[in-house]
Amino acid sequence: MTSQKMIVEIQEWLKEAAAFIRVSLANKVTVSQKSNRTDLVTNIDEETQTFLIKKINKYYPNDSILAEEKGFDTIESLDGRVWIIDPIDGTMNFVMEQENFCIMIAVYENGVGKLGFIYDVMKDELYWGGKDLGVFVNDQKLQQPKDRALSDGLIGMNAYMYGKNIYAAGEIGHASMGIRVSGCAGIELIAMLKGNHIGYISNLSPWDYAAGLVLIEEFGFKYSDIEGKPLTFSKREYFLAASPTAYTQIQNDFVHKS
Ligand code: IPD
Ligand code: CA
Ligand code: CA
Ligand code: CA
Repeated sequence: MTSQKMIVEIQEWLKEAAAFIRVSLANKVTVSQKSNRTDLVTNIDEETQTFLIKKINKYYPNDSILAEEKGFDTIESLDGRVWIIDPIDGTMNFVMEQENFCIMIAVYENGVGKLGFIYDVMKDELYWGGKDLGVFVNDQKLQQPKDRALSDGLIGMNAYMYGKNIYAAGEIGHASMGIRVSGCAGIELIAMLKGNHIGYISNLSPWDYAAGLVLIEEFGFKYSDIEGKPLTFSKREYFLAASPTAYTQIQNDFVHKS
């Protein structure tokens, strides 16, 4: 079960974490490489994650946690209540731009997304909502964007997939009004919630999409792995989310013809 009390608690934790991150930018950030020179982690990613995990362990000690950093990146199953956390989504942007990064938290119950929170830290905009609750930015309720065709909207994309034309990403981009590349899954999913983009194609891990899925589902978007199979929540996979019309076009006219 989720509750209003839980929503308020998560909002408070996120505000505290965001304030910590903003202050940290004035100090020296320690940057390390993970798998390669563009796969970065900082002490602020790790400290933010530790802060959030401490809160969950204190208030919800029986729950499971899946989070990107520090040994929390695998989980045996999605049974029970599971918190899925990306402490800083868009670490490269955090390091290079000091903006366009998010904190993301999702609450799932037995594999079903119940609550999602995406906090654009530098804009101080918290996108949040849940199953049958609607979607909000801070205190303001958002309107569900119109279903639009691929030719009528901008699409967010992973630069590598576009450049290498993986799953015809290049052709999909050319059939749209244009591609946009932000380097942050959270920012891309926010753009869909605002009605600015009709979809997003990328290569993502569960903590990159867990929170956003709860929110885009509430707004009627369709999503899956890029071939149309359910997302596994257990590995990095090619990801597609789009308005219902654009989703079907991308699947039928591009992905399965590529
Ligand atoms: C990354 C960002 C990026 C996406 C990568 C993610 P991170 O998350 O969301 O936009 O293309 O696939 O890994 O590592 O900065 O949290
Ligand atoms: Ca990362
Ligand atoms: Ca991420
Ligand atoms: Ca991250």
